[in-house]
Amino acid sequence: MSKPVVLIAEELSPATVDALGPDFEIRHCDGADRGELLSAIADVDAILIRSATKVDAEAIAAARQLKVVARAGVGLDNVDVPAATKAGVMVVNAPTSNIVTAAELACGLIISVARNIPQGSAALKNGEWKRSKYTGVELSEKTLGVVGLGRIGVLVAQRMSAFGMNIVAYDPYVQPARAAQMGVRLLTLDEVLEQSDFITVHLPKTPETLGLIGEDALRRVKPTVRIVNAARGGIVDEVALASALKEGRVAGAGLDVFAKEPCTDSPLFEFDNVVATPHLGASTDEAQEKAGVAVAKSVRLALAGELVPDA
Ligand code: MLT
Repeated sequence: MSKPVVLIAEELSPATVDALGPDFEIRHCDGADRGELLSAIADVDAILIRSATKVDAEAIAAARQLKVVARAGVGLDNVDVPAATKAGVMVVNAPTSNIVTAAELACGLIISVARNIPQGSAALKNGEWKRSKYTGVELSEKTLGVVGLGRIGVLVAQRMSAFGMNIVAYDPYVQPARAAQMGVRLLTLDEVLEQSDFITVHLPKTPETLGLIGEDALRRVKPTVRIVNAARGGIVDEVALASALKEGRVAGAGLDVFAKEPCTDSPLFEFDNVVATPHLGASTDEAQEKAGVAVAKSVRLALAGELVPDA
């Protein structure tokens, strides 16, 4: 009897294949290559992806025997979940696999934009010893506004409070008492924008959050604010941010995600006070192993017709 086919459409940790075990035929494709994806997905039982593969309605329609889409990560914004559900395809993810890793990257960006570490390093490697140019600001006693106090936002708040930051947050789904237990003051979004010295975004990408930190929001912030987005591109509007940086209404930004990825060219890259990384939020050995193993286990269960527990 032929084995069920699992298509790995992006580079995943080797632990993923180990965790799938010997019961499947494993195939590989470059999910970012649309033509390759649409032909490779046609006769597979499961597909494993990260963020570069768009499993949209067209891909699902092309998949004649697909039973599971497994996203080795938290976000599901590159999967058309309603289209999958309509076609009877199960969608699974690894919702806690990379939360520590993502939080650590956001903290790294906060520190980097405060102290100009990447810029100082790049300049020195270029033969320039520029100490005063890269003078930064302290984090201690500054206010960090966390927009989205979910799993990752909480981890960022805990870690940055160890730097002596005062933490405020906007999250309409969190009770003020719960936030207070964590030492976080819940405010309205406008209050967070107006009071913060640093703002870090930790929201999923939805029609409600797209452009949330846009022109209006960026007119409310302090001119000394530094903004970090390691969540999803487009939540901080890139055009509005570029204007705010240009006009000195924002003092710096740390960006790991972009509205369109891969993004190798952006007006934002022109600013020396912007630190940019190529969607590295989930990219650690540990997170990739956890995500790969978690989705491999879910795929095994789903293809065996067993219940897939929430992770
Ligand atoms: C996530 O949603 O967890 C990350 O974007 C995953 C990734 O980078 O692959």
